[in-house]
Amino acid sequence: MKRRIITTGDGSKTIQIEDWDEQYHSKHGAVQEAYHVFIEHGLRLFQNEKINLLEIGFGTGLNAFITLLEAPKQQLSIDYVGVEAFPVSKEEVGALDYCQQLDANNHKEAFQKMHGSLWEETISITPDFSLLKQKKDFKEIDEENLFNLIYFDAFGARVQPELWTEEIFLKMYQALKENGVLVTYAAKGSVRRAMQAVGFTVERLPGPPGKREMLRAKKS
Ligand SMILES: C[S@@+](CC[C@H](N)C(=O)[O-])C[C@H]1O[C@@H](n2cnc3c(N)ncnc32)[C@H](O)[C@@H]1O
Repeated sequence: MKRRIITTGDGSKTIQIEDWDEQYHSKHGAVQEAYHVFIEHGLRLFQNEKINLLEIGFGTGLNAFITLLEAPKQQLSIDYVGVEAFPVSKEEVGALDYCQQLDANNHKEAFQKMHGSLWEETISITPDFSLLKQKKDFKEIDEENLFNLIYFDAFGARVQPELWTEEIFLKMYQALKENGVLVTYAAKGSVRRAMQAVGFTVERLPGPPGKREMLRAKKS
């Protein structure tokens, strides 16, 4: 499927799948959305601890990179696992230019290390941030009681309905530790009901610009 780089509402770039009219992050602001959903309503729940974090859809690495940038502010040590079946190319990563956009040129080496690291190999990006990229389908995830936090960032249910089902959310539920949390930009009633059906307690929270609501689910 054809991918192209577009500029979003906050001036940051993302990738668009043209045939689907679907973006890796919101058209209203890629960086803005990533911070709102995954950092403000996910990572901020944790302070001064070591956490295991699973990302559903490593994609451009934007969520992983802003997590690395934010972690020291909350004294977090993070083991980050990013699952992705269709990696972006080196050229796409270059064109997205996230270090410049995030005013993080002093972390360029870390960003390059994230994208340059081999699949299926855990590497230490900083002393407090390790990354394991797994190249596989989300349906193959079978970890149990391992993660404190999941960033659920699959393409929308409009284009990939099979990824927003009870089957997938049961995998997410099992992968989380007790009291673990899953955050997603999605807010559809059918998604919330699928989460609840597998045991999650689900909250509706204000969404990022351009979106009324988002969801946060807790295993409790
Ligand atoms: C919304 S994008 C993720 C954006 C990403 N979190 C970021 O920070 O750029 C969804 C990602 O899921 C990947 N994907 C789609 N279907 C998948 C599947 N069945 N298994 C694994 N990855 C999949 C896509 O290639 C894409 O990178």
